[in-house]
Amino acid sequence: MNISKKEPVFKTLIEPFKIKSVEPIFFNTREQRKKVLEAAHLNLFLVPAKEVIIDLLTDSGTGAMSANQWSALLRGDESYSGSESFFRFQNSVQSIMEMPHVVPTHQGRSAERILLKTLKPRGEYIVSNMLFDTTRANAEILGFNILDLPCPEFYQTQEDFDFKGNINLPDLESALSEKSVACVVLTVTNNSGGGQPVSMENIKNTSILCKKHGVPFVLDACRFAENSWFIKQRESEYKNVSPLQIARKMFSYADMCFVSAKKDGMANIGGFICLRDTKLTEECKRDLIVSEGFPTYGGLAGRDLEAIALGLQEALEESYLHYRISFVEYLYNKLKQIGLPLVRPAGGHAVYIDAKLALPHIPVSAYPAQCFSAGLYEFSGVRTCEIGSVMFGREKKDGTQTFHSQELVRLALPRRVYTFSHLDYVCEAIETFVKKEAASLKGVKMIRSASVLRHFSAHFEWL
Ligand SMILES: Cc1ncc(COP(=O)(O)O)c(C=O)c1O
Repeated sequence: MNISKKEPVFKTLIEPFKIKSVEPIFFNTREQRKKVLEAAHLNLFLVPAKEVIIDLLTDSGTGAMSANQWSALLRGDESYSGSESFFRFQNSVQSIMEMPHVVPTHQGRSAERILLKTLKPRGEYIVSNMLFDTTRANAEILGFNILDLPCPEFYQTQEDFDFKGNINLPDLESALSEKSVACVVLTVTNNSGGGQPVSMENIKNTSILCKKHGVPFVLDACRFAENSWFIKQRESEYKNVSPLQIARKMFSYADMCFVSAKKDGMANIGGFICLRDTKLTEECKRDLIVSEGFPTYGGLAGRDLEAIALGLQEALEESYLHYRISFVEYLYNKLKQIGLPLVRPAGGHAVYIDAKLALPHIPVSAYPAQCFSAGLYEFSGVRTCEIGSVMFGREKKDGTQTFHSQELVRLALPRRVYTFSHLDYVCEAIETFVKKEAASLKGVKMIRSASVLRHFSAHFEWL
């Protein structure tokens, strides 16, 4: 018999892990969800998790840890200062980010706050491809003006483009020449704008402009591994380069970064800052001791540091990244087949529905994305997140509202938590919801909101 020794290639994509421990899902009825939603004032952040069937609210801190991470928890050294866990964490971070100083924090937003505060004396503006909500809130509280300069393709939600997360370089150049800029922040990938990646070329050119104008270049890098995978797939010179090498190259262009470890850190809590500048590091540590804790734990337990040390490495494994991005694409392709208007192409951690197009009869003033999310939850138990005017609009002093350029419903996929059949359920739920209910929705009215990060606590009523 002539048996071929070639490695067989199979088309079926499987999760590159086996499941050792499971959590139950509670199946409630529409009638029950209607009451839950009313009690939560139509705000899905206020809905108890037990009342959710499939939870796509966020990919932040919601992932499943590996058996290796769980076993490393026992190794956690809980010494107040100089714990072994800190050194393992620091080594792991430095093996990727390759910056001399590493400052742990309890999560990403404290890393943002501490780093941006030290940069405050340098200028009035923060320029970005697009800041995420917590970064924006921290920057505003610190008194910065914010200039989001996404590339022109970003606004064409229905067109495909490889790197919609790019910053607009000519606009950046003008801003750096004309304004007093404290720092430039590139969010990789761009969470507020469809989870779209930033190219290595754009990162490199941003770094050149920042150097020319003497302005620090910061990466908001919580999805650095997903961004590295997109660079590998879409920028030909990186085709044969490993995700680790790509990540190192990305960080080599930056002066500093802040990272929420709850995404590609594959941990349920944690964050950190990396810097090259010793003086700025000392300033960060001074703030850290007052607000987070000693610089070798920064608000985290030793066991959290162990989980992050391993998680950062696991996020860069090719089999994982191939599955991760394909998993998001699977959901994207199925929803596209149904005919849903999606931000094109699929993001790294999420699929985004363009609610202005999905609910064209609802004006922006009636918050179509919030309305879609709330309606879908009541209909199916699928929880999603509004990324639109509730999150990014503002109430002006005269009581009138400003609205965001996009009204998106984000379906964020927690890492290693759901399977392909869960995604099939989500697609069936959305397809039926859109067919049967969308036309009868009229929008929502915001009846109460806080001045900062209002999407977490605002109250709504159906129109
Ligand atoms: C791009 C980006 N930056 C910063 C953060 C804040 O991180 P954390 O939730 O750990 O405070 C998030 C969280 O979702 C994010 O997506």
